[in-house]
Amino acid sequence: MPRLVVGPFNRVEGDLEVTLDVADGQVREARVNSPLYRGFEQLLVGRDPFDALVFAPRICGICSVSQSHAAARALAQLAEVSPPPNGCLAQNLALGCENMADHLTHFYLFFMPDFARDSHGNLAEQVRPVGPVAGAKAAVATVAPATAAKAPEGADLVKSAGCTACHGVTNKVVGPAFRDIGAKYAKDANAVATLVGKVKQGGVGAWGQIPMPPQPQVKDADAQAIVRWIVGGAK
Ligand code: HEC
Repeated sequence: MPRLVVGPFNRVEGDLEVTLDVADGQVREARVNSPLYRGFEQLLVGRDPFDALVFAPRICGICSVSQSHAAARALAQLAEVSPPPNGCLAQNLALGCENMADHLTHFYLFFMPDFARDSHGNLAEQVRPVGPVAGAKAAVATVAPATAAKAPEGADLVKSAGCTACHGVTNKVVGPAFRDIGAKYAKDANAVATLVGKVKQGGVGAWGQIPMPPQPQVKDADAQAIVRWIVGGAK
């Protein structure tokens, strides 16, 4: 039976491994294993039992509350005491808060960055004109370093990309003059994202009834540089 080991997953604070036994294209058995040995138990040997409350939470930077809770329970078991009902409630509230915070931490700090990688497309192009959070400033901050150096090349890029067949810098040809486009969007915070999308995908209706055909041959970085040049006044 072929065995498939998936891992290590390193976004779970410590490594995690999943072992799958596969037969006839179906998973017959699945095991989850955490192979990262930290040895905190060894640190505690020979120490005062209450030191566990100081050491155990430091096993993990994400789930320190549940680690200290486990240590507290172990100590309570040793001492053969149990907390009063309000003590249990307080413990559960603290655990619940950590659980909620963990969801945010894992999603935004651990997994979210992967969704923002290049393989998921250019973030700047995912900024849409409508929606609760436009994120235009973040998009500009992300792309600025790469495109800043290219900005002066806008005038050359529109020639090499074939845009000047339909656009003059100062005069309308088939499409509007780049200076006119720049003037129209000068105060629009989302202009770069919107117009890069329009260059790549084409569109109609903003300037008249003649459509602008899609320009998929233009590289993302070049489209960004061109649009920045246009919005900056096409000079
Ligand atoms: C075949 C002709 C043609 C070519 C080639 C062309 N455009 Fe256009 N473009 C147009 C037309 C027509 C419009 C007006 C579309 C409209 O009304 O929405 C336009 C509009 C635009 C706009 C304004 C969009 C808006 O929503 O206001 C930008 C920016 C633009 N073009 C950039 C470019 C760039 C950059 C290139 C080269 C990569 C390019 N165009 C190539 C015809 C063209």
